[in-house]
Amino acid sequence: MLHDPNHLYIFDTTLRDGEQVPGCQLTTPEKIEIAKDLESLGVDIIEAGFPVSSPGDFQSVVELSKAVENVIICALTRAHKNDIDVAADALKFAKRPRIHTGIGASDMHIKYKFNSTREEILERAVAAVKHAKSYVEDIEFYAEDAGRADLAYLAQMVEAVIAAGATVVNIPDTNGYCMPDQYGAKIAYLKEHVRNIDQAIISAHCHNDLGLATANSIAAVQNGARQVECTINGIGERAGNTSLEEVAMILKVHQQQFPGLSSNINSKLFTTISQKVSSMMRMPVQPNKAIVGKNAFAHSSGIHQDGFLKHRENYEIIRPEDVGLDEAGIILTARSGRHALKHHLERLGYQVDKDELAAIYEKFLVIADAKKDLCDEDLNALMQS
Ligand code: KIV
Ligand code: ZN
Repeated sequence: MLHDPNHLYIFDTTLRDGEQVPGCQLTTPEKIEIAKDLESLGVDIIEAGFPVSSPGDFQSVVELSKAVENVIICALTRAHKNDIDVAADALKFAKRPRIHTGIGASDMHIKYKFNSTREEILERAVAAVKHAKSYVEDIEFYAEDAGRADLAYLAQMVEAVIAAGATVVNIPDTNGYCMPDQYGAKIAYLKEHVRNIDQAIISAHCHNDLGLATANSIAAVQNGARQVECTINGIGERAGNTSLEEVAMILKVHQQQFPGLSSNINSKLFTTISQKVSSMMRMPVQPNKAIVGKNAFAHSSGIHQDGFLKHRENYEIIRPEDVGLDEAGIILTARSGRHALKHHLERLGYQVDKDELAAIYEKFLVIADAKKDLCDEDLNALMQS
């Protein structure tokens, strides 16, 4: 597969790694609705499911393959012949099908999950890729728990699966174990030591157990990865996966650090898709979540509000409009200052001079101490009192 070295491929796994979270299960129509939104968002690959896991998941992959035309549709398998047969069947209507197969690469997995040896696992990895290749051209291989795998062995595995036909090599930090410098160095090592690495795209797939999933994915990109696997709102196993919106905005805010590199993501759709995924999956977004949390663009302390109202870039590195929000929030609490209060009064049509504002502010503080935050009705009542 020819790939563009200046393109950062965004691989969305909301419907697979995200959907496997307890309570987040979706119906096929819901998955189709989200997949269409992901297509509009500009993702390059949608991981639609793990077809062998259940008849429902199989059917979802079939239906998504029919409904979504302009994105690669990917199905997950273990390195089992039957998994691959079932995935290929589920993908039969996909215009651009991809099979994502793989096996554990760390000694921990080799010994305690597979009760096997490095040699045998290598053979199974190569056999799985060859079998998948008999069905489709686009094969992604995942070396599960690569974050804790022996580097030389990982490089040997990656080289062997590329030789067998893998077009993308996924280096998952399955347990969210790595630090950014370690994960970045792993990617750099593979770039340097795997002789056929230029024949494949390196993919980062990071989990958030230490809160480092996004940082690790970015470190991977800085070291040559050209695909990032992520989910909307960062949902996924345990502490979640890399958050799609964070990766896209880091790329935008720090564009000079990624010369020439771009993705197709339309960040203006983030707020809508985040809210839809959250409500369909019954998974609330934490208010302080970067980019899409309720407070991500809300200024609440007096010092910040005053600085923001003087010049928004004092406290704003991303424009709310860029992620689909109408405006930044100036929240009125007991920590707010006169400047914020005046701003809201003017917004509601009240013009007050300096002395009036000082008097109103004293009353405002009494109410604000009693309430957590004030809304427009509170301000109107205050002005009428
Ligand atoms: O975290 C992981 O290793 C995975 C693989 C199945 C890609 O999700
Ligand atoms: Zn995962």
